[in-house]
Amino acid sequence: MNIDILLGLQWGDEGKGKIVDAICPNYDIIARFQGGPNAGHSLEFNNVKHVLHLIPSGIFRPEKLNIIGNGVVIDPAVFKTEIDTLGLTMDELKERLVISARANLILPGHRILDAAYEHSKGNTKIGSTLKGIGPAYTDKAARNGLRTGEIFRKDFREMYDKHMKNHLSILKSYDYRFDLKEYEAGWFEGIEVLKEFRIMNTEYLVNELTGKGKKLIAEGAQGTMLDIDFGSYPYVTSSNTISAGACTGLGISPRKVGEVIGIFKAYCTRVGSGPFPTELNDETGNLLREKGYEFGSTTGRPRRCGWLDLPALKYAIMINGVTQLFMTKSDVMSGFDTVKVCTSYLSGGKECREISVENLQIEPVYIELPGWNENISAIRDFRKLPENLRNYIKFVEDHTGISVRMVSVGPDREETIFR
Ligand code: GDP
Ligand code: IMO
Ligand code: MG
Repeated sequence: MNIDILLGLQWGDEGKGKIVDAICPNYDIIARFQGGPNAGHSLEFNNVKHVLHLIPSGIFRPEKLNIIGNGVVIDPAVFKTEIDTLGLTMDELKERLVISARANLILPGHRILDAAYEHSKGNTKIGSTLKGIGPAYTDKAARNGLRTGEIFRKDFREMYDKHMKNHLSILKSYDYRFDLKEYEAGWFEGIEVLKEFRIMNTEYLVNELTGKGKKLIAEGAQGTMLDIDFGSYPYVTSSNTISAGACTGLGISPRKVGEVIGIFKAYCTRVGSGPFPTELNDETGNLLREKGYEFGSTTGRPRRCGWLDLPALKYAIMINGVTQLFMTKSDVMSGFDTVKVCTSYLSGGKECREISVENLQIEPVYIELPGWNENISAIRDFRKLPENLRNYIKFVEDHTGISVRMVSVGPDREETIFR
C-alpha cells in the first residue's frame, strides 16, 4: 500500500501541518484533498514558523511533489499571497507543486456571500473563517462552479462575469455592504499566477506514481468533528474531512489506502461556534489557551479549550478507520496536578457514549488522572517521558484500542517522538 492518510480527529488544529512536515521524509508525494484557505497548517524548523493555507505541508522539502487535489477549493488571491510569502523561488514552486484541473475556484462572490450569510445569522452564526468555503462548495454541488482547468479558456472572463452576476443577484436580498473591486483585483492577479503552474488531471498522476511505488501521504484539513456529514452539523465545514474524503478528493480507490493516521491534541480545542462538551470556561481553559498559544492560524481568533473527549475521539477513530494515533501538544499539559478525561456523557440523566444528532445538551463524565510537571520538550525517547504522561497515553490506548505511535512535545519539526 503506497497511500497513507493523515487527518485530524477533533475540531481541527490538531497539529497536522507540523506532523506532515515531520514525516515527510517517508513520502514522495504530499496531497491535500479537501478544504481550502480555511485551513491554517503551521510548521516550524530552523526557528522559523510557517503557516500554510492552500499549499500542502511538503512544500519546503526539495524533491517532494505536492498536489492540490480535485476536492480542494482554491482562492487564487490567497494562493498568490501564500506563494509570495514562502521564501521559495517560482522555479522551485513550479517544480514542487501541481494542481488538479478539477479543483473548484473560490470566487470573490463566494467570500462576500460567506460574510453576508454569517451576518444574517446573528447569534446562530457558524463562526466561519469567511474564506468563501461554504458558498464555493454550494456552487460545486449545484453544478454552478468554475474550475481551475477552465482558467485558460478564451471565454473565461465571460464565464466569471456570469457567475458574478448570479452572486450579485443573491446578495441583493441581504442587507450587507461590500466592496467587490477590492477582492477582484487580487483575484485576477492570482489567476495569472495560477496559470504558471501545472494544472492537470492529477488523478492520473496520483495513480500512476503510486502504482510505480512512490509513497503518498494525503494531508487532511479541518477535523472529523467538522465533517459535513459526521461533524456537529450545522456547525461544520462544507467538505468531507474524513478518510473517505481522500478517495473522492484525489481520485484514489479505498483499496489502495494503507495507514490512516489520526492526530489528536492531548486536550481539545475548537474555534468558531457549535457544541463542545468538554469546554472549560474557567481558569484551566485560559491556562491551556495561554500555554498552548491557542489562537487560530487563519483568523487569529482565540480557540475554545477543554479536556480530552474520548467518546468523540472513539467516534472519529471509527468513522476514519484509524490505524495509528499521533498525539500532539503533550508539553502544554505539563504543570497540572491532575488532568481530566471525558469517558462518557450524561444525557437527560442517563449515561451515554454515542455522538448523536440529538445529544447536544450533554454533560461530560470525567475521570481524573495524575498530571505531570516536567518540561518535556527536549525528550526524544518515549521511555524517558514522565510516567504519568505515559499512563495518560496508555489510558487513551486502552479506551480506543489503537496505539499511539507518535508523541509531539513542541511545535518544532525536531520535537517529535516516534515509538
Ligand atoms: P493544524 O491546522 O492541524 O496544522 O494545526 P495548527 O497549525 O493550526 O495549530 C497547531 C498549533 O500548535 C501550531 O501553532 C503549531 O505550531 C503548534 N504545535 C503543533 N504541535 C505542537 C506540540 O506538540 N506542542 C506545542 N506546544 N505546540 C505544537
Ligand atoms: P485546519 O485545517 C479549525 C471551522 C471554523 C468554523 C467552521 C466552518 O487548520 O485544522 P468554514 O470557514 O470552513 O466555513 O468554517 O469550521 N474551521 C476550522 N477550525 N481548524 C481549521 O482548519 C478550520 N477550518 C474551518 O472556525 O467553526
Ligand atoms: Mg489549523
